[in-house]
Amino acid sequence: MLNFLETLPEIKEVLPTCNLGLVGGKPSITIIDIRRQKLATDHFLAKDIIRGLTQPSIIPGFNPAEPDITPTDPVRTLPDVLIYDTHGLNLFDQLTSTEEYYITRSETSILIQESDAIAQKCKDRHVLVELGAGALRKTRLLLEAFDRLGPSFTYYALDLDHTALVEALTQIGHFQNINLVGLWGTYEDGMAYLPTLPSHHRKFVWWLGSSMGNFTPQDLDDFLLRLQSALEPGDALLLGSSGPTNPSAIHRAYHDSAGIHASLLLNVLTHANHILGQPLFDLADFEYDCWYNPQCTQVEMYVRTCRALRLEYYGSANESSPSCSVDSVDSSNCQGKSPVLYINMQMGERIHVIYSVKFSVDRIQELAHNAHLIVDAYWVSSDDYNCQLSLLSKPWPDIPQ
Ligand SMILES: C[S@@+](CC[C@H](N)C(=O)[O-])C[C@H]1O[C@@H](n2cnc3c(N)ncnc32)[C@H](O)[C@@H]1O
Repeated sequence: MLNFLETLPEIKEVLPTCNLGLVGGKPSITIIDIRRQKLATDHFLAKDIIRGLTQPSIIPGFNPAEPDITPTDPVRTLPDVLIYDTHGLNLFDQLTSTEEYYITRSETSILIQESDAIAQKCKDRHVLVELGAGALRKTRLLLEAFDRLGPSFTYYALDLDHTALVEALTQIGHFQNINLVGLWGTYEDGMAYLPTLPSHHRKFVWWLGSSMGNFTPQDLDDFLLRLQSALEPGDALLLGSSGPTNPSAIHRAYHDSAGIHASLLLNVLTHANHILGQPLFDLADFEYDCWYNPQCTQVEMYVRTCRALRLEYYGSANESSPSCSVDSVDSSNCQGKSPVLYINMQMGERIHVIYSVKFSVDRIQELAHNAHLIVDAYWVSSDDYNCQLSLLSKPWPDIPQ
C-alpha cells in the first residue's frame, strides 16, 4: 500500500487571477497547486493508457448475462480519470441537469432538507474539504448552511482540472463567513495535503455525487481506510452515494436522450489522444456502451469498436519523457516515424472505462466498519431512487483504564 504520509506535497501557490480579497469589487480566487508529480503526471497516465490497452484484465463484475462475453474474458481498459478534462467536466455538469440523471436531483433534495442539520452537527469543524468538487452546484447548499452559522470557516474545493476549478469557484461567488480556496490535484494529492492543514482545526470532508461508486469494492475499502488515516479523531466525512433502484430508471440515467453520457465516454478517447500526443483513436470508430449489472449492483461503462481496427501507436512524447508536454494532437507528430506498436481490435470489442456502483445500507455500514469510521447519521432520498448521504466520523482512540 502506498504510504502517502511519507511524501508530503510540494505546495505551490498558483494565483490565476489573484488571491482572496476584493479586486475591482469582485472576490478573487486562490488555487493551491498540491500536485506532487507535476511533470510526471501525464507520463504515468500515458503508460497506464498503453498498459490498459495492451494488457487486458479481468474486471470485477463482468455481466454473465451478456451473450458475447463471459465473466472470465479479459477486457482492455482505459483510466477513468480521462473522463475529467475541462470538456469532460462541462459535459458532466450538463448531464447533472438532465431529467434522466436522477442522482444529482436526489442528492440535492436531501441537501435542501438536511444542510442546516448537517452544518449544526459539524459546526466545530472549521476546515471544510470537498473531494472531486466539480461545478459546486450542490456545494452551495452546504456552504450557505455553514455561512449562516457565523465565522469562520475555510472551504477547500479539490479537483483535477485547473480551468474548471477556477470557473466553479468564480461562479459560486462570495460568502460572508467562508474563505474559499481551490486545491488543484488528485484525491491522492488531497490525502497527502490534509495532514498539513492546522491540526487545531477539525476537518469535515465531503465526497458527493456518487463519486465513490467509480471505485471497485476493493479499491474503495482501501481508499477510505487511507482517507481515515489522513484525518484526526473527531474529523467527519460526508459521503454521497446512490443505491440500487428500478433498473429502467438506472438505464435511462446512463442512456440520456441528449447523448451526454455517450459524449462523455467518447471524450475519453480525445483526452487519451491528447495525453499520448497523437491521434491513436479515431472517434468515428467507437461508440458508447453501458449496462446495469444487477448481480453486482453496478453500472459498467465502455467504449466499443464499430469495426475491426488496428490502432497504430507511435510512442508517446509523454511516455518517453516525463518532462515533455504535448499541446497539439495531429498526425504530423507521427510523420516520418514507424509505429512502435499495433493494437488489433475486433469489431464490437469493448474497452472498460468506469463503474458506477450502487450501494445498499449494509454496504455503507460495512465500508465505515472496514475504514474504522462511525456512522453518525444517514439520510435516504424520499423519492424512489435510494440516493444516500452518510455522515461518518473518526472516533477517538480508546483510552486504557
Ligand atoms: C462524479 S463527478 C462529481 C462532481 C460533484 N462532486 C458532484 O457531486 O456533482 C466526480 C468529480 O471528481 C473529480 N475526480 C475524479 N477523479 C478524481 C481524482 N482521482 N482526483 C481528484 N478529483 C477527481 C472529477 O473531476 C469530478 O469533478
